[in-house]
Formats: sequence, structure tokens, C-alpha cells
Amino acid sequence: MAQKPQASRSSQSGFPIAPLYGPEDLSDDLAERLGEPGQYPYTRGVYPTMYTQRPWTMRQYAGFATAEESNRRYRQLLDAGTMGLSVAFDLPTQMGYDSDHSIAAGEVGKVGVAIDSLDDMRTLFNEIPLDQVSTSMTINAPAALLLLLYQLVSEEQGADPADLKGTIQNDILKEYIARGTYIFPPAPSLRLVSDTFAYCHKELPNWNTISISGYHMAEAGASPAQEIAFTIANGMEYVRAAQAAGMNVDDFAPRLSFFFVARATLLEEVAKFRAARRIWAKVMKEEFNAQNEKSLKLRFHTQTAGVELTAQQPEVNLARVTVQALAAVMGGTQSLHTNAFDEAIALPTEKSARLALRTQQVIANETDLTATVDPFAGSYAVEAMTDEVEAEAWKLIDGVFAHGSSVQAIEQGFQKSEIEQSAYHIAKSIDNNERVVVGVNKYQFDDDEPYKPLRVDPTIEAAQADRLKAIRAKRDNAEVERCLAAVKAAAQGDQNVLYPIKDALKAMATVGETCDTLREVWGRYVPPEFF
Ligand code: 3HC
Repeated sequence: MAQKPQASRSSQSGFPIAPLYGPEDLSDDLAERLGEPGQYPYTRGVYPTMYTQRPWTMRQYAGFATAEESNRRYRQLLDAGTMGLSVAFDLPTQMGYDSDHSIAAGEVGKVGVAIDSLDDMRTLFNEIPLDQVSTSMTINAPAALLLLLYQLVSEEQGADPADLKGTIQNDILKEYIARGTYIFPPAPSLRLVSDTFAYCHKELPNWNTISISGYHMAEAGASPAQEIAFTIANGMEYVRAAQAAGMNVDDFAPRLSFFFVARATLLEEVAKFRAARRIWAKVMKEEFNAQNEKSLKLRFHTQTAGVELTAQQPEVNLARVTVQALAAVMGGTQSLHTNAFDEAIALPTEKSARLALRTQQVIANETDLTATVDPFAGSYAVEAMTDEVEAEAWKLIDGVFAHGSSVQAIEQGFQKSEIEQSAYHIAKSIDNNERVVVGVNKYQFDDDEPYKPLRVDPTIEAAQADRLKAIRAKRDNAEVERCLAAVKAAAQGDQNVLYPIKDALKAMATVGETCDTLREVWGRYVPPEFF
């Protein structure tokens, strides 16, 4: 046999990418490792027909300033053809502080919409029928509160809870690893997640209770194998916590979902998505003995890699986002957000947000990628890379559980240090020009027309504080106090806290007041000094 040419470069996960793959690179049991589309182990996709029956959901992440501004942007996106909503919340909301809290200064409405109360939620979804859209909410520590506010608004619209479709991110473990918007320590945080699983199983049966995320770890520097390994390990931790809380795995696992990044390294990304489905299916079947086939399916959302966007020659990002989106589609994503070309500079303008959506619409309507399922199946290169990424991911999953649990590994800084090492290698390879970033370390060009970014109106902080003052003056404060006392009692006991929280929010208790009540009982998480 002819001598195989030597690998000229390695994948993001570190294994060498062969310049040529052949039949000898396919595993002997390929047919079994592939399965049919929509069949265990789901390597080829979670549905038998995939995009041939229904394209992925075009779900553009958006939200800034006030609820009115965001509501306007959502209605623009719905008019432009977006198929699902995706709400970005500002940091005070994500951290469970009201807009008039001193800690909120300068952050109100900045990276997302400010939501303090039921009033704001009504405004956010004004004229949007919640039983006819599917809405993702990127909220973690106080996710249960925002879900309950969403349900309260839907009840005022007369919607049937079974018609409420959407997802809360609710993935607190990745916040300890990579994103940082945590409130409570791990144990009460996992209790709140399990209470949310139990509440949704009973009250909101078609709601996706969590979006177990690898995206933020990837953006922090995780390799594709690290991204899926640490995400799946976190997923296993949530399953164990819900089982420990007395739930049957098939009562909640069908409504678990995932969230990954799509990098421009298209081949390895397609391999990564296919490997992730196969690993999760095996874990749910063999480790957790799930019987419902929906419990075995890794359904996921993808966002194109923000960290790969450049501020230099920003229009070049249109090409990057297109390649990244192709990686997600060829990898079988269920839902996709394409970044706007100007996001390395500022929040997207209305035009750049529409252009980002049009990128998906071109792929869905002008290419032949929705004509057939999993086009890479049987590819010598992609199947070999799928096996490589899978093998590396299994090693990393074992590395996590060698610490006892994902939480214990987090508290010992394992995932964080692995990701930091990977981030260092990426930065070094760019600095020494091993890895080309067009416009940054090669093909530089001084732009003639300066870009005009969108700026958030700084006066919204005062406006939001005035709204809070008016709410506190108008509401029945005795009723609010009574409801918050019930929240406190539930948090101190083992009653599902979502029920008293819903009553409190309905009485116009604010997000900050409710989270303060929970902080009183559960405390605030303080990371170990080495973080
Ligand atoms: N055959 C049969 N049925 C099909 C089908 C097919 N080919 N295609 C779709 N369907 C069905 C599905 O079964 C589903 O029905 P069901 O709800 O009754 O099961 C329905 O059609 C909708 O399909 P999906 O569930 O696949 O698509 P959704 O878009 O509704 O859900 C998801 C996708 C990944 C499961 C969901 O969790 C989701 O939408 N996640 C989005 C998460 C998100 O947007 N996150 C944003 C994060 S941004 C962030 O973190 C901050 C930033 O800084 C990065």
C-alpha cells in the first residue's frame, strides 16, 4: 500500500488531520456506529427526515435596552421570517438584581433586555401570541423566575400551558466554569434546576427545561472535544440530581436540550456534532437506562462562533458566519443563531441582524442541503474524524468523573484549567502566525469608511428605576411580603419553590426581591480562591 502522506496540520482537538483518508480509515462496525437517521445512536441526526421535512429553527438571539425596544426588535425579526424568538437579558436580570440596585449601575439594558417584573414581561411580549411562537430565554441562575413570568403573561393571553414551547438555558454548571452569571452555591442551584424539571413535567409539558451549553466554554477556548465532553458531563450531573430528587429519568430527559458553537473548522465541527449525539445516546441508554427514545436524543441549538469574528474589516465576518452556519447545518442542528458581521464591535444594527438571518435563509432556500439527510455519512474523512473526536471526548468525560462528579471537578478547577490550556495554545498559534486570522495577522487592510455602531441609550437606567418605583407604589405590598415569606419557607424546606415564586411574581414581587429572598436562605456562591 502507498505510504500515506504525513498530516500537515492538527485539528482543534489536537489530533492530526490526514491530508488523505481512505477505506482503511473507516471503523469496521461503521453501519452500527451510524444507525439510521432518527434511530439509535442518532449519529446521522435525531429525526428520520431532518431538514427534508422541516428546516432547523432560525432563532436569532436578540434583546437590549427596555422591554419596548426588544419587543420592537422581536416583531421586526418575526416579520423578516425568523421562526423562533431568543431573548437576551441584561446582566442585572441574569444576576437576580433589580435595575435600581446599586450593583446594576451602568449595566441596565446593556447586553440584553432589563426585566424586573411581570409588567416588563407583558411589555416584552406585547402583541406576540405566546402559544404560536417558540421562545428561548438565555437566563440561568434565576431561569425559573423568568419562565414563571413568561407563563403568567401567557395565562393573561389565555394560552393553554401545553401550547407553550421554548427553552430556558438554566445551565448553572457552565456558569461556574465559563460564564460567571451564577447566584447560589451548586447544591441549592441544582435543587432549583430539579424543581424546575419537576414543575415543567407537571405544568409545562412541552417546554425544554434546560439548554446544556458548551458554547461559552468553546468561546473561552475549549476545543471541540472539550466542549462536548464537559457539556455532556454537566448533562449527566443534572440527570443524577433530578433522579436524586426522586424523578424518573423518562419524566424529564425528553425535554433536556443542548447548545453548542459552530466554528469555521467545518469538518471537525460536523464530526463533533455527530460524535456528541452518539455519546449522549449511549450514556442515556447504558448509564441511565432511559426507555423513552426521546430521552436518548441530543437535540441542540447552535450559535456561530463569536470569538472568531474580527473588528478589522468587519464585512469579512459575513464569510466566516456563512461557513460556520454550514458547519451547524451539515452537523444536524435543530436551531441556529447566526452572528451579525458587526458583533465584534457592538450590538447588531437592525440591518446587520437582518443580514445574519438572510444568511440562514440562503442556506435553507438556495442550497441543496435540505434535500438529503446527513450528507457526510460514510465520508472517509468525516467518519474518521467523528471517531477521533468521540474517543477524545470519552477520555475527557472520564477525566471529569475521576474527580467524583462534575461539580467536584468544577470546584477543583479541572474543566477551567483544561480550557485555559487550550485557549493558550490557540492564542499562541495566532501570535506566531501558525493559525491565520484574515485581516488580523494576514491580509490586513485599513478600512476607509469607519463603521457606525449601535449604542444603547444611557438614560434607560433612570427610566427603568422609575418603572420600579411606580410598581412598588401601586402593588399590595402586604401581599408581596406574604408571598415572599412563603418563598422563603419553601426554600428552607423541600417543597417545590416554583409554586410560591409564581404567586410572588403574580403579586408583582420583583425579580430582585425574589432572588434576595432566596439568597437569604441559600447564600451566594463564592468561587474557590484559585479561580
Ligand atoms: N421530523 C419530525 N419532527 C420534527 C422534525 C422532523 N424532521 N423537525 C422538527 N420536528 C419537530 C420536533 O419534534 C419539535 O416538536 P416537539 O416540540 O413536539 O418535540 C418541533 O418540530 C420543533 O423542532 P425542534 O424541537 O427540533 O426545534 P426547536 O427550535 O423548537 O427546539 C431546541 C430546538 C434545541 C430543542 C430548543 O432547546 C431550542 O430552541 N434551543 C434554543 C436555545 C437558544 O436559542 N439559546 C440561545 C443562547 S445565546 C447565549 O447563551 C448567549 C450568547 O452570548 C451566546
